[in-house]
Amino acid sequence: MESRSITTVIANDNKCQITWSDGQVSHFHALWLRDNCPCPECLHPQTRERVLDIMDVPQDLMMPTTIKIEAQNLAITWQDGHLSEFNASWLKDHCYSEHALQSRKEKLNFWNEDIARSIPEIDYDAIMQEDSGLLQWLDMMVEYGFAIVRNTPTIHGEVCKLAAKISFLKETNFGREFEVISKANPNNVAYTAISLKSHSDLPNWELPPGVQFLHCLKSEATGGESTLVDGFAVAEILRLENPEAFELLKSQAIPFRFHDEEWDLSHEAPTIGCNASGDYTDIRYHAALTAPLQIPSDNVLPFYQAYRALTNIIRAPENILELKLMPGDVMVFNNKRVLHGRAAFDPTSGDRRLEGCYVDNDAILSKRRVLRRKLQD
Ligand code: OGA
Ligand code: ZN
Ligand code: ZN
Repeated sequence: MESRSITTVIANDNKCQITWSDGQVSHFHALWLRDNCPCPECLHPQTRERVLDIMDVPQDLMMPTTIKIEAQNLAITWQDGHLSEFNASWLKDHCYSEHALQSRKEKLNFWNEDIARSIPEIDYDAIMQEDSGLLQWLDMMVEYGFAIVRNTPTIHGEVCKLAAKISFLKETNFGREFEVISKANPNNVAYTAISLKSHSDLPNWELPPGVQFLHCLKSEATGGESTLVDGFAVAEILRLENPEAFELLKSQAIPFRFHDEEWDLSHEAPTIGCNASGDYTDIRYHAALTAPLQIPSDNVLPFYQAYRALTNIIRAPENILELKLMPGDVMVFNNKRVLHGRAAFDPTSGDRRLEGCYVDNDAILSKRRVLRRKLQD
């Protein structure tokens, strides 16, 4: 806690500089501080939501001269007499120096086939019985984008109970819960026995499901081995090897579509999604659901070239984790980051049965924050 004490505050025009007892320095703008005043007039005391209207505060707000510092508290009386009192720890947690912003980013661990030696895995009971187990699982999901849950009872519907530890399910056109078996009349290549090359599910939705659960109930058929590829890791390889291809896949939206009797779901988006800071947000990659390209003619051949360059990296054996799911295993993965697939299987050699469902990534992140808060108290 010592490092969270304030040593000095220097006010300078429209900003102030806080030096902490560990020697670190933070800068806060007057306008930012006023906007984040935690008093009950500015922040609703029950909902903890902002009720202050920033338009009621002048844009050129200056730091006042009346600033009272105590080690754990910073009290600012503004020119209009309004008092804002900040807790030092809260301020440190919300410092927006470059260093602080960087250190608060999620630590993602990009992987390749070598992860086979230390697969992120956890026992079903550890998750169901202890918050600490549940948190450990969610941490793996964030760091690696997947985890295998072992020893899940091989009971119909159990996968939904596991997902319900996190949140309500995300329903799609394939239902709340779906069965992956070879079907006589499939409306989806997954419901056949053919191989599924690495792909992401439902890129034809504006908001594809964040996290997919696939629970193995039976794996008696020959073949059907599962594959996983870290989509962010392969995108990063492409960025370094072939920046032009990377830029095109990041900027050129392409159409995706699924249609059957009841549905016609279509969305356009780039293959590689990045936010304004250049961090990866999502990969949309599924040949079966890619609609005929409707993009500027000059981009067609460069697009195919870029897509093939990415595909070569996705298919390079060193980037593929191969596993044979056994009854009781649940493969859980971030569908926006990790591509999944399976080898063909022989449906006459025995049963292969998976049950699946989805939840959103928001739910994973929310549950993780709530558990961290709970377990830290
Ligand atoms: C799917 C899928 C993989 C498998 O249902 O989306 O990719 O192992 N299934 O059958
Ligand atoms: Zn206030
Ligand atoms: Zn799939």
